[in-house]
Amino acid sequence: MTHAAPNDSLRAAAFSVMARAYAPYSHFRVGAALATSGGHTFVGCNVENASYSATICAERAAVLSAVAQGEKSFTSLVIATEGASPAAPCGICRQVLAEFAPTLEITSCTTGGAEMHWSLDQLLPAPFTSNSLPRS
Ligand code: THU
Repeated sequence: MTHAAPNDSLRAAAFSVMARAYAPYSHFRVGAALATSGGHTFVGCNVENASYSATICAERAAVLSAVAQGEKSFTSLVIATEGASPAAPCGICRQVLAEFAPTLEITSCTTGGAEMHWSLDQLLPAPFTSNSLPRS
C-alpha cells in the first residue's frame, strides 16, 4: 500500500486556495494551508485592498481562520505561489506564526514545481514573544 507523503494533501489545499486569492493589484496569488496537531487543515489566500496597506497575506488569513475555529496548535504550513521561485513568508506573517508555533515546519512550492523548506525558527530566529512583556 502506498502512503501519501504527509504534505501532499496540504500542498493540494494550498494550491486550491491560491486560486481564490484576491490580488487585482499585484497579480501575485498566494495560498496557504496550515495543519493542526489534531490533523485538521485551515487555509487562507491573500486579500488585497485599494488601500494597499490593508492587504492581508495568505499565511495570516490561514492563522486567523484557524484561531476563529478554536485551533492554536500548528505543525506545518504549505505556501503555494505561481512562477519559478518559492516565496518565504513575509516578516509580519513570520511574527504572527511564531506566536503559536515558533518551530513550525514551512514548505513553499510553486506551480513551476520548485520547492523550499524551512523551520520557522530559521526564518525568525529571535521573535518578539510574550516573555518580552512585563509581567502583570
Ligand atoms: N503575500 C502573501 O500573501 N504572503 C506573503 O508572505 C508575502 C506576500 C501577498 C501580499 C500581496 O497580496 C502580494 O503577496 C504581493 O505582496
